[in-house]
Amino acid sequence: TRIFVPGDMAARALGADDVARAISRESDERGLDIRVTRNGSRGMVFHEPLVEIERDGVRYGFGAMEASDVAALFNDPDTHPKALGPVDDLDWMKRQTRLTYARCGVIDPLDLDEYEAFGGLAGLRAALKRAPQRIIDEVKASGLRGRGGAGFPTGIKWQTVHDAEARQKYIVCNADEGDSGTFADRMLMEGDPFCLIEGMAIAGLAVGATKGYIYLRSEYPDAIRMMDAATIIARQNGLLGADILGSGKTFDLEIRVGAGAYVCGEETALLNSLEGKRGVVRAKPPLPALEGFFGQPTVVNNVISLAAVPFILAEGGEAYAAHGIGRSRGTIPLQIAGNVKYGGLFEAAFGMTLGEIVNKIGGGTASGKPVRAVQVGGPLGAYFPPDLFDTPFGYEDFSSKEGLIGHAGITVFDDSVDMGRMARFAMEFCAIESCGKCTPCRIGAVRGVETIDRIRDGDAGAMALLTDLCDTMKAGSLCALGGFTPYPVMSALNHFPEDFLPEGHKEA
Ligand code: NAI
Ligand code: SF4
Repeated sequence: TRIFVPGDMAARALGADDVARAISRESDERGLDIRVTRNGSRGMVFHEPLVEIERDGVRYGFGAMEASDVAALFNDPDTHPKALGPVDDLDWMKRQTRLTYARCGVIDPLDLDEYEAFGGLAGLRAALKRAPQRIIDEVKASGLRGRGGAGFPTGIKWQTVHDAEARQKYIVCNADEGDSGTFADRMLMEGDPFCLIEGMAIAGLAVGATKGYIYLRSEYPDAIRMMDAATIIARQNGLLGADILGSGKTFDLEIRVGAGAYVCGEETALLNSLEGKRGVVRAKPPLPALEGFFGQPTVVNNVISLAAVPFILAEGGEAYAAHGIGRSRGTIPLQIAGNVKYGGLFEAAFGMTLGEIVNKIGGGTASGKPVRAVQVGGPLGAYFPPDLFDTPFGYEDFSSKEGLIGHAGITVFDDSVDMGRMARFAMEFCAIESCGKCTPCRIGAVRGVETIDRIRDGDAGAMALLTDLCDTMKAGSLCALGGFTPYPVMSALNHFPEDFLPEGHKEA
């Protein structure tokens, strides 16, 4: 019998290690031959630790498990109080379109044979048979756009790097997932690390880069361990190195760990940090695609953009593009968090409305109170009130409502939230995390905090000043940190003006 207990950081934080130990102990005591696999997470954080027992090829789920629930699991799993039935039949799983996360939570993350048995390496094999331009054409046909948040077409970025002449080109994976409430990169790296490695190798073949780096945030120790281990296994098995899968082609990569600065997720600050310099934003142009790591043409892609590529090469760009709406093609891993009943990762084709995501998938608030606001796109994303819940999840749909989908973090708030305080927090966050390179952000964010305090103290005249400041930050900042902070601030002000009045303070 095979039993799965997630080794994912969220599951571990919820006690998965205790459960795994209890399972091993119980099985030893009963003299049973049980294989415990520490898989990744299926994304149902509300069921974690989600234990799965495989019987006749079907995986039966039990969650959320505690060590004290384990003995009953061995007595009669069918009547276990935490039995959920076959995991693939759960609503949360059935409603998804799992293209990028198809293996996440399913396989043993470090078992390369299992990776291959579940469709891994098919994309890389397809890529090795093609000319670089044909690989790029496939990615273009897929319509894939940068999943880090900006949504720039991945195929066009690769084309730029491909067309650049240089002695050395690089693939840099941005795994500095800094947005609060997001965890898609982490879950992928912990649950299916070979998928990212495969995507990077394909990117290397496409643009002519033989060297890659994964810039991974220090706050993700499990993902660091997992990527380190997977890289070694990949190299030992010819998936990385001087002769990828016997093709004679070269690609290898290294893991680099950041030191905990939000701004190092910005691609040029990331490159500086990777080069051993202070993580300060560089002016663009030059684009990293032309002058990136140590001045050489560099693809900087988010984990999820790269992890989407193996599917695209294996199944064809059109199979990916068949999902989605408008110019938002394929799928996006929604990360539902905050005050929500069912929090977790849900991979969906673009096009579901925000209301469906929050209420149908997320089940509304955990507190049971009405939803008042949803912040979409991390700390630089806009707050959406329920009357905008009919907005379909897509890049253009959100920007037309003065918002962004960003890295697809969705944070839910109930009616106890003080939106004036959230706006102040956005400015404060920007002030703390600012790299200091440009004035609108470095000084503007500090002034922003003060101005919001003035408004909330009853100085209504400061309202126009705040709007003006936000316009300046939006137009004059060098990068998205200063440039996007106005989104949460202005959306809070526009949709919830009552919370900026002195009597609107909920905590007062
Ligand atoms: P951007 O719009 O400046 O650039 C997007 C990407 O396209 C960059 O890689 C850029 O180099 C590339 N690019 C632009 N024009 C190009 C061309 N002609 N040829 C080739 N490449 C080209 O946006 P930026 O500053 O990179 O990202 C901002 C986004 O980051 C925001 O939308 C926000 O949602 C997201 N973000 C994500 C976080 C996370 O934790 N994942 C944290 C903070 C922000
Ligand atoms: Fe640095 Fe802020 Fe300017 Fe970005 S906007 S370059 S973080 S000072």
